[in-house]
Amino acid sequence: MKCLVTGAAGFIGAHLCRALLERGDEVVGLDCFTDYYPRAIKERAVADLRDWADWRLVEADLNQVDLPPLLGGVEVVFHLAAQPGVRASWGQRFETYVDNNIRATQRLLEAVKEFASGVRLVFAGSSSVYGNAPEFPTSEDVCPRPVSPYGVTKLAGEHLMGLYHANFALKTVSLRYFTVFGPGQRPDMAFHRFIKAALTGDTIRIFGDGRQSRDFTYVGDIVQATLAAAKAPEEGTVGQAFNVGGGNRMTVNDVLAVLAEVIGRRPRLEYQGVVKGDVRDTEADISRARSRLGYSPGTGMVDGLRAEAAWIEDVILK
Ligand code: NAD
Ligand code: UGA
Repeated sequence: MKCLVTGAAGFIGAHLCRALLERGDEVVGLDCFTDYYPRAIKERAVADLRDWADWRLVEADLNQVDLPPLLGGVEVVFHLAAQPGVRASWGQRFETYVDNNIRATQRLLEAVKEFASGVRLVFAGSSSVYGNAPEFPTSEDVCPRPVSPYGVTKLAGEHLMGLYHANFALKTVSLRYFTVFGPGQRPDMAFHRFIKAALTGDTIRIFGDGRQSRDFTYVGDIVQATLAAAKAPEEGTVGQAFNVGGGNRMTVNDVLAVLAEVIGRRPRLEYQGVVKGDVRDTEADISRARSRLGYSPGTGMVDGLRAEAAWIEDVILK
């Protein structure tokens, strides 16, 4: 099967591309290498994919690239390209969020509608659409009320998916990923920063009292759900949104305790103010993904942190 993956050189995109190639798919990866974090990290993430004959990386911006040739023969589009990060989405930087999360998504949908209307289109949505949810675990039926500009743009992307499904019968599936961790994690994210600081003797900075919680999800589980969303029967899947959580809901303080065990050292901690845009808690109700996608998360906190720590040591600190 031939697939197009947008955001292919990013944290999750690179893992997804590897999994697709490993199962024998042909993959066209699209990425414009935004400067949100160092290009070298993205280059390393996709470096080993060059060994596959069925891999092609196109460096281009989704807002400018000529899309029809990239869609030729494609059966599934995985749309992961975006400007991520909840806390950085205020002020002038919002423009980048609008460009990469809303405009680029609409442009891709128009191209799919015109030139590849039969493809399955899997969208990387976000738990940030919920904001401070009224109940936990949170099901997809809860009305989304984002508390960050980033969350607003991810919700807009999801609504666009729904609109193109309802009006033009595009086969869209939205996945709401919950705080993803593991090897390759972005340098702005908590575990990347925590592990790096713990290994180098730096101070870990915690936003708030550390009692905020997240449903942390291992990247391998995210890939499993994303592949399943492309294959699941259309009935009950297309036009829908699914939570993809890991079943690892923990407070930041509890994660730090586990990390101290994993690394064998107790890092210095500094508590700072809460950052606007951060939600207090998340916890996914994954029963819909379980029943319709066959999703079953398998990696817990200790194993996941070990794998991420090994990557930080071998790749980031080398
Ligand atoms: P990432 O920044 O590592 O990857 C995104 C990639 O998209 C980057 O390599 C970037 O260069 C590329 N990109 C951005 N705009 C582009 C454009 N206009 N044209 C071409 N390429 C472009 O982020 P990630 O953490 O891997 O996130 C992947 C997706 O998953 C995003 O859609 C994000 O919103 C979503 N998501 C991530 C998490 C998480 O915890 N990491 C959680 C929920 C949702
Ligand atoms: C993550 C991703 O960064 C978003 O792109 C994504 O959309 C979102 O998950 C999601 O699930 O939808 P976040 O939950 O903020 O966002 O993930 P982390 O950056 O790993 O932060 C987790 C917690 O650690 C937050 O409470 C944050 O405030 C805290 N944190 C983070 C710190 O205390 N210190 C830091 O240096 C970084």
